Amino acid sequence: MKMFRVVCLLAFVSVLSPAAEALDNGLALKPTMGWLHWERFMCNMDCQRDPENCISERLYMQMADVMVKEGWKKAGYEYVCIDDCWPSHQRDAQGRLQADPKRFPSGIKKLADYVHSKGLKLGIYADVGKSTCAGYPGSLGYYETDAQTFADWGVDLLKFDGCYMDWTLLGEGYTNMSKALNKTGRSILYSCEWPLYEWPFRKPNYTAIRETCNHWRNFNDVYDSWSSVKSILEWTASHQDIIVPSAGPGGWNDPDMLVIGNFGLSHDQQESQMALWAIMAAPLLMSNDLRNICPRSKELLQNRRIIDISQDPLGKQGYRSAKVDSFEVWERPLSKNRLAVAVLNMQEIGGPRGFVIRAFPGWKICDPKCNVTQILPQYKEMGVQTQQSTLAIPVNPSGTALLTVTPISGDFTGIHKLHWENVSVKHKYIL
Ligand code: GLA
Repeated sequence: MKMFRVVCLLAFVSVLSPAAEALDNGLALKPTMGWLHWERFMCNMDCQRDPENCISERLYMQMADVMVKEGWKKAGYEYVCIDDCWPSHQRDAQGRLQADPKRFPSGIKKLADYVHSKGLKLGIYADVGKSTCAGYPGSLGYYETDAQTFADWGVDLLKFDGCYMDWTLLGEGYTNMSKALNKTGRSILYSCEWPLYEWPFRKPNYTAIRETCNHWRNFNDVYDSWSSVKSILEWTASHQDIIVPSAGPGGWNDPDMLVIGNFGLSHDQQESQMALWAIMAAPLLMSNDLRNICPRSKELLQNRRIIDISQDPLGKQGYRSAKVDSFEVWERPLSKNRLAVAVLNMQEIGGPRGFVIRAFPGWKICDPKCNVTQILPQYKEMGVQTQQSTLAIPVNPSGTALLTVTPISGDFTGIHKLHWENVSVKHKYIL
């Protein structure tokens, strides 16, 4: 019961108090979509032996080409983002960052022109402290210079890391870079890691963070494994009362990259990552090799119905509403009084298990009637339901069933609330 009270409270808080002021740069009104090199390509600098995969201008140009040719751009993925390991170890004579000349012979401006010519946007990476996490020059003491350099190059997004920085100066550093970017007059989406680096010392000030950044990392780097994805979900759920209210148009919590299409996740786990990232209103920044991706992963990443949940105009982040018998239920309020619901089977043994959704008088969204659509693992119209309905949904181990619930009467004004009940007695299923 305690869990349901938490849900009610969250819904209540988010109905009454709109999120704090977002960074007013007109960007990230919906969660950012694009591609970011880090998880898949890391700091691979061996262009001699591994020209296909090293961090070089070629990688981003090829990714931009594929994004246009293979439907990624059409699906909404827009930003092609460089992460760490792009610069020279030395600044130039004017103190400006410069790209490694061997790996980026044409320079970042040319690369930005190329990416723009494809109708896409270019992201770059820097660090608030003395050096980047991989040991390249940091921006400390150079915020204005670096912001201006990125603007002159035509960069559209800055991922600003937090390594090698005195934690007491994080707020000042992130704020000053935000101001420096604004001063350039160019629209540059600002992706921060401020709270991630502050959490070990104190609870971050999410009002200030939302006023400063367009999205912000809170927790550890994602790895190509289910245990990593699970740890991110658990951190998010256990801090949801703090972080969920801070998300909204212009500023989002960032649980890190989508690793769908790589090596570590089963297809069910990939579906879980995609569904939950949509529920969390997370930036959808893929880190994979779009030149060589299996058709099922591609179809999942381009699934229009899931992307619609991610990009829903109401702009509210979802939250975990129940944890019962190794199932987790996550809900996200959507525009037009709709609701997205993800049921995640956390049991990593056995086969599919049935999760029973039993409506009860508190199921207001279905009063008098609602329409339920299953989106994952397969698209399926579940038909018109009432407050008396019972639905049983099979969910694979470490997989997710993703649903949307649409009220049929237009006058719903109450708080979204479903009642979930896992009934492991087989005869109660209506399958
Ligand atoms: C940190 C960040 C990662 C990535 C690396 C690059 O670990 O959290 O996302 O940018 O640095 O060195």
